[in-house]
Amino acid sequence: MLTLGIETSCDDTAAAVLKDNDTLLSSVLSSQDQIHTRFGGVVPELASRKHLEAIVPIVQEALDRAGVTLQEIDQIAVTQGPGLIGSLLVGFCYAKAISYVTKIPYIGVDHMAGHLLAIFLEEDKPDFPYIALIVSGGTSSIYLAQSHTSFSLLGRTRDDAAGEAFDKVAKLLGLPYPGGPHVSAEARAGNSAAIKFPRAWLGRSLSFPGCHISTGASPVARDTVPSSGIEDESLDFSFSGLKTAVLNHCNQSRQKDLPLQIPDVCASFQEAIVDVLVEKTLLAARQHNIQTIVMGGGVSANPRLRQSMLERCQQENKALFVPRPSFCTDNGAMIALAGFYYARKSLPGSYDQDVYSRSQL
Ligand code: KG4
Repeated sequence: MLTLGIETSCDDTAAAVLKDNDTLLSSVLSSQDQIHTRFGGVVPELASRKHLEAIVPIVQEALDRAGVTLQEIDQIAVTQGPGLIGSLLVGFCYAKAISYVTKIPYIGVDHMAGHLLAIFLEEDKPDFPYIALIVSGGTSSIYLAQSHTSFSLLGRTRDDAAGEAFDKVAKLLGLPYPGGPHVSAEARAGNSAAIKFPRAWLGRSLSFPGCHISTGASPVARDTVPSSGIEDESLDFSFSGLKTAVLNHCNQSRQKDLPLQIPDVCASFQEAIVDVLVEKTLLAARQHNIQTIVMGGGVSANPRLRQSMLERCQQENKALFVPRPSFCTDNGAMIALAGFYYARKSLPGSYDQDVYSRSQL
């Protein structure tokens, strides 16, 4: 079974060919970072135009590198959402068009399912169930994964995604887009305890099986990681207050004519994000009595997050699985893999289906 995976949800045009569920024959990606960097973020209109230019050669390159022709492909998996509508439309319409012409069935895949399953592209695979932390430029969510196609959302960001916060803070500090890797590089030379940025642990929540209702308490800034009485605490995230705290720190330094210590700001900001991501993920594992943790999404390429999650998992006797960085960021291989599993339980896509901007998972 050969699956062609196509991904165009944001600013990367990606395609891959996967044999069955375990042999990746090719994975090709065309990044638009150079185009968007001067704007400090993704410009949707530019992104979709660049996808239009890249989609045909990138899919052809994925087929060539895999050593197969389009006629040999058994099914096409394509990202249907969430993402930027204009970007999604390019990949989705292209997949539907080649499916229509060649009669190869296509299946629309939720981008989040790709991130949730990317770990199965690695040799070392987790067992179900697991708690997954998916953190990227567009999302910060915690899921309980029970099978390759069964995921329950336990918590998500109420405002900015973690990657978005990294990108916005980078812009504030004059660092290039995408900001995550640059903030992380600056942080290596900084002191993470230099500035006390707030951690939004949020309020308590009412949790019922299959349903997660938050009381909507406003973000509460605490300086230390909560240690007890948090078993019903919300698994939602909020990073907008942290971003504002960094902005205030920069403005105050300027007003007082103090030099801005960029490495210290980056290290302290990064530590505040990492603390919350790690502790909420472990809290989810405790609440649901799960022994395995998986990470995915672009921010999980962050070395400090990986290190801190590993240390805490070791302390709490949890097994941690993290894909290599190129499978953490957007890629076609994870879409092909998710398509492989979804195709086994749903009918092929119909030609009247459309893209969507918010995840259905
Ligand atoms: O999953 P992804 O490739 O795609 C989208 O969300 O579109 O994630 C991209 C995000 C960006 O916000 C980027 O700044 C962030 O992941 N990112 C990182 C790192 N590498 C990428 N954030 C923190 N540290 C990193 N090393």
